[in-house]
Amino acid sequence: MAIVSPRAARGGAQAELVVVPADSVVAVPDGIGLAAAATLPMNGLTARIALDLLALGPGQTLAVTGAAGAVGGYTIQLAKVAGLRVIADALPKDSELVRILGADVVVPRGREVAAAIRLATGDGADGLVDAAVIGRDVLPAVRDGGHVIAVRTYRGKTERSITVTTAWVGDYLRAADKLADLAELAAAGRLTLRVARTLPAERAAEAHALLEAGGVRGRLVLTF
Ligand SMILES: NC(=O)c1ccc[n+]([C@@H]2O[C@H](COP(=O)([O-])OP(=O)(O)OC[C@H]3O[C@@H](n4cnc5c(N)ncnc54)[C@H](OP(=O)(O)O)[C@@H]3O)[C@@H](O)[C@H]2O)c1
Repeated sequence: MAIVSPRAARGGAQAELVVVPADSVVAVPDGIGLAAAATLPMNGLTARIALDLLALGPGQTLAVTGAAGAVGGYTIQLAKVAGLRVIADALPKDSELVRILGADVVVPRGREVAAAIRLATGDGADGLVDAAVIGRDVLPAVRDGGHVIAVRTYRGKTERSITVTTAWVGDYLRAADKLADLAELAAAGRLTLRVARTLPAERAAEAHALLEAGGVRGRLVLTF
């Protein structure tokens, strides 16, 4: 399995064959299928870099938005491996999934999410990964001097000495050691690889339409 930058000059991973640097690739562990493996590098490494930037220690509190999604789900699971307390958002239909992924507290997603996280944490979370791209409205969920990780360019202001950092997986394109760690965690069942559906590559447009419609849980994987 390899991480492939969608911004690569010759295109991203929607190709039958790609050439990648050797340090972007690790072996797929025994027992994991190729479709499942395909779901790990991009979003797993995004969760990894988000948590590395936060550098929280055991017992500290992490909030996660977009928790039912790929980045959100991996973030919860990696945070639990690191001994963090996790508060995550979900629609009622996804609450059980998010709990199974490891969230200690699940709060309703939506307009009141920041207030609900604050209520669950007392003074606010130490760190927050905003995989739902809520932006500035999520800041009240974080304690004074806390740290928010954005996964898209963050243009808003901040408040109460909260740091906002945009994580970019491009910084881990050649981090085979980190990808190998993720593969090991997946093989051990500590990271859950979720495939919603596989579609033949000729139906890529349909896959994009499904993704844009929302509600997909797990990745749509194109096969060649
Ligand atoms: N910076 C980087 O390097 C990097 C790398 C990878 C991904 N990303 C970005 O990270 C984000 C998440 O990616 P992903 O692959 O995890 O996407 P995903 O699997 O589609 O997950 C996003 C989740 O957020 C949920 N959501 C949407 N609006 C929400 C809201 N207002 N409140 C709470 N949850 C909400 C979605 O639910 P519904 O399906 O019900 O809408 C979905 O479960 C994307 O914006 C992606 O572009 C950034």
